[in-house]
Amino acid sequence: MTDRQLITLRVNGEESELVIDPRRTLADTLRQTLGLTGTHIGCEHGICGACTVLVDGAPARACLMFAVQAEDREIRTVESLADGDELSDLQRAFAAHHALQCGFCTPGFLMLAEGFLAERPAATRAEIRELVSSNLCRCTGYQTIVDAIEDCARRREAGRTGRDRAAHGAAERSDGAA
Ligand code: FES
Ligand code: FES
Repeated sequence: MTDRQLITLRVNGEESELVIDPRRTLADTLRQTLGLTGTHIGCEHGICGACTVLVDGAPARACLMFAVQAEDREIRTVESLADGDELSDLQRAFAAHHALQCGFCTPGFLMLAEGFLAERPAATRAEIRELVSSNLCRCTGYQTIVDAIEDCARRREAGRTGRDRAAHGAAERSDGAA
């Protein structure tokens, strides 16, 4: 019999104290202990990517991590994307491009893309194609998933450019006024 351990997990900005078996995976802990069932479990050995979450901002397979290894790390699950009933821009892009059918793989792809775009906001289509090869989808043929991630990246880029222009214009106006 193993000794259960008291750990503090920070998930989606909320801290929880849990007493768990050290062998318990992060995926099982998220789903069964914290009730965050958006993280799916497919293969349970690191192949399919359905269990992908963000650990300190980087995509990670929650089935390959013990929950005790996630202590003092910032965990984000798919539940963190939407703001109440309002889907995130990435989720809206998946819906608009029909990037899901059965949806089983979708939380994993969303978190994979969320972490990737934070790191590589100007990712090319070729880079996005390479990215999605790390997760398995048996329904879509991947094309629409690539379309959705690329669309989200371009929209975010356009938003940043617009904001930069607005800030630049405001700076020039205040210089002129001085
Ligand atoms: Fe984790 Fe498949 S369930 S990679
Ligand atoms: Fe069914 Fe990807 S949408 S496995």
